[in-house]
Amino acid sequence: MKKTLVLSAVLALATTSAHAEDLSQYSNESRAVAMPFLKQLGAANQKAVSEGGPESAIGVCRDIAPKMAGDISRQTGWKLTRVSLKVRNPLLGTADAWEQKQLQSFAARAAQGEKPETLEAAEIVQEPAGKSFRFMKAIALQPGCVSCHGSTEIPENVKAKLAAEYPHDQATGYSAGQIRGAVSIKRPL
Ligand code: HEC
Repeated sequence: MKKTLVLSAVLALATTSAHAEDLSQYSNESRAVAMPFLKQLGAANQKAVSEGGPESAIGVCRDIAPKMAGDISRQTGWKLTRVSLKVRNPLLGTADAWEQKQLQSFAARAAQGEKPETLEAAEIVQEPAGKSFRFMKAIALQPGCVSCHGSTEIPENVKAKLAAEYPHDQATGYSAGQIRGAVSIKRPL
């Protein structure tokens, strides 16, 4: 009886550490996909703003970002999206329950002094549709983003275009350094 107990304790321990190893390995792999995605988007945004002004950069967030996310999803078999608690495009950007919980926890952690660009969440979840690894990395607002996600910084022509294309826009009022949302990865296991 005692032996069985010890054995199951050892087994439980082994499972826990294997689980922890998986988590850190999956997190590293997800980070390796999320970081270049964010970097390329930031660069594309900067390029568009400097070449054609904020109005021409709308396409980066509206067309290039979802296309890149779609390409990555096809290539990896993981679902990669950008989500937020205050979305511009509810169809693509609305966070599900797990993502909302993490975004709320990111906000609380940032309020405690953690830097937005360091905030991450990782968990293996079991849902009716199956088991998956979920990963989120916060997106901090950069100075170049306020021309479309700030308040008074948004030029009139951009404001008009946003109002016409996104009548349900909630993604304004941010200042640089705040959490705009997160990259979210869901990987079936
Ligand atoms: C020129 C305007 C413009 C600039 C500059 C801009 N965005 Fe956006 N952003 C948009 C538009 C338009 C959408 C809606 C995209 C869509 O239709 O899916 C959006 C959506 C997003 C979303 C997806 C969630 C949502 O609200 O729908 C995130 C995250 C985001 N932007 C982050 C950023 C960050 C970070 C920067 C700076 C690096 C930035 N944006 C700069 C126009 C802009």
